[in-house]
Amino acid sequence: MRIGVLTSGGDAPGMNAAIRAVVRTALYYGHDVYGIKNGYRGLIENDMVLLLHDDVSGGLTKGGTFLGTARVENFQEQDIREIAYRNLQKRKINALIVIGGDGSYRGAMALAEMGVKVVCIPGTIDNDLGGTDKTIGFNTALNTIVEAIDKLRDTSSSHQRCSIIETMGRKAGDLALYSGLCSGAEFIITNDHPVDKNYLINTLSAWQKEGRRQAIIVVTEHMFDVYELAKEISEKSGFSTRATVLGYIQRGGTPVPEDRILATQLGSYAVTLVNEGIYGVGVGIRNNKLVHNNLEDILNDLEQHLDLYDLISKVS
Ligand code: F6P
Repeated sequence: MRIGVLTSGGDAPGMNAAIRAVVRTALYYGHDVYGIKNGYRGLIENDMVLLLHDDVSGGLTKGGTFLGTARVENFQEQDIREIAYRNLQKRKINALIVIGGDGSYRGAMALAEMGVKVVCIPGTIDNDLGGTDKTIGFNTALNTIVEAIDKLRDTSSSHQRCSIIETMGRKAGDLALYSGLCSGAEFIITNDHPVDKNYLINTLSAWQKEGRRQAIIVVTEHMFDVYELAKEISEKSGFSTRATVLGYIQRGGTPVPEDRILATQLGSYAVTLVNEGIYGVGVGIRNNKLVHNNLEDILNDLEQHLDLYDLISKVS
């Protein structure tokens, strides 16, 4: 068989480890693998390369994706996808493995509807895909965020300040929630658990009067202008506040062991499914077991994975 593999959407640490596992497992079963460059763009532009055993050496430790990635807006158009479909046929590629987040899964589902044999692997720092307890990259990003918050706490407490930290995650709150739990944040604000601004300001005002040395607020991106919020809190509560947007630093770096293991398990499992003729699915790990689910079911289950708020309210 000829298997195509691509990474798409926002890069996530562990994508290279997943590609490595795909290539090595495919070779184990006697299949060829074509690496498709820059996500769906490489499919449209017929930009692909045969990947051999040594081409993926070192993939376990490198962040980003050596195949490149892209957000290809026009992949939503049927005639653009027809080009991609024809390129797959020309190359005699029988199956396609897509590593990415929900947008990438939607592209894969559209290809599956055209008859392409697709298996998806969850690769996104956001941890916002159904059908798996964790997505590849989440743990590394979490590590990066926690390290940053620990550092911010040092400077915050030295200056008797409140620190607002904005995490990525798009609409999903997992990065904020888990990092807030790990760093003992005083407030964690996500789309699922917004906080009333007046309550926030009044609480900080009371804390400031009590002489508290610092407070940490972790917030998911796109909820507020955090710089404006910091200004407003400083003015109205008297608690001097600074904001830090962590930004793209959260997506880079060498994958932590959990992501290397997850990527290797899922990459290898995806090829095993291809080998068994199972398509139109996304792989994942649920309760320590490798699982696969229909792409549609996965996309209908984009909720937060674990509600940690009950726990946080008991330990804060
Ligand atoms: O999906 C991963 C992610 O990093 C999100 O957390 C973030 O909202 C988005 O990608 C940013 O996308 P872009 O790289 O296109 O700016």
